[in-house]
Amino acid sequence: MRHTVAAQGARSHGPRAGVRTRRADPKSVLARPPCRPVIEPTDGPTDGEGAVTPTPEIDTSTPHSARVYDYWLNGKNNYEADAEAARRVSEIWPTVRVGAQLNRAFMHRATRWLAAEAGIRQFLDVGTGIPTEPNLHQVAQSVAPEARVLYADNDPIVLQYAQALLHSAPEGRTAYLHADVTRPQDILESPELRETLDLGEPVALSLIALLHLISDERGAYEIVRTLVDALPSGSYVMLTHATDDLDPELMARVATFYESSVTGGGQLRSKEGVLRFFDGLELVEPGLVVAHRWRPELNLTDDAYKPRAVAEDGEADEPEEAVVPEREVSDAELSVYGGVARKP
Ligand SMILES: C[S@@+](CC[C@H](N)C(=O)[O-])C[C@H]1O[C@@H](n2cnc3c(N)ncnc32)[C@H](O)[C@@H]1O
Repeated sequence: MRHTVAAQGARSHGPRAGVRTRRADPKSVLARPPCRPVIEPTDGPTDGEGAVTPTPEIDTSTPHSARVYDYWLNGKNNYEADAEAARRVSEIWPTVRVGAQLNRAFMHRATRWLAAEAGIRQFLDVGTGIPTEPNLHQVAQSVAPEARVLYADNDPIVLQYAQALLHSAPEGRTAYLHADVTRPQDILESPELRETLDLGEPVALSLIALLHLISDERGAYEIVRTLVDALPSGSYVMLTHATDDLDPELMARVATFYESSVTGGGQLRSKEGVLRFFDGLELVEPGLVVAHRWRPELNLTDDAYKPRAVAEDGEADEPEEAVVPEREVSDAELSVYGGVARKP
């Protein structure tokens, strides 16, 4: 069964779900520099030579999946329409905010495992999202300062804030590419990729909370195949993906809302459908599981639940209060699969 859905998300939190948030009233998010007006085309991040990438215009009037997700991560880079949509989804899916945090925590654990246990030193992160500390390169470089990361996303607001992704450890390197994953060759043939990654050496392809935004009709499986085919043996894929396996009625309601209201709809998939993305690859233990069940012992501290919004100059805010569930989050409440697999 397929549904249009958007953000990855995982589950939320909220009093009705018996999950306590220690964060301030969510309305306070709106009281912050509220939702900026439409941003005209402007200058984006500079490359090492000082050249400037122009930022496309940002439409603030329609909720966008990246900014709705940013709201759930306590970010500030969202607008009134996004915040309103995020609140509406939270009403339907009370654990969605904690789910977003748990999705992010999966990325931290998988990245740490890839750098520490699998010896990976290169990462291609597609569908990066609005920068939220710790970003992938910070997790990877905390293990291996020489790690190199190419980020890619197609949302103009991610480009606008991409400067925060370029603060690499001096031993390593990061770069940002404004690109649409539905044109994977554009990513593979980009100068940014050539200058950042060596495709002769293993790369971890990170597709966190991205593929449920890409329907079969838009070529989701072919896209992943094209990207994986370009990587050498010993490379890895790590991904998370929302599912309607575990609470079909709830997810159908979420999907209906996204379909009608949020730019960037996609497709929920069953476990079998998500496993197809790993065809030809070897899943590492424990296989494809609900994301918070994937190697939870690798959570360092509850920092994983305290993402920090990042300003345009790349400076992170003080960590927000953690959004910590008081109780175990059930698989159905999260409804996001996560897994890591190796290319033989
Ligand atoms: C839910 S966010 C996930 C962000 C981050 N990976 C994480 O899990 O914390 C999905 C991201 O995918 C991006 N995205 C959606 N469709 C895309 C496409 N066709 N090409 C590139 N990025 C895309 C969105 O702009 C958004 O930033």
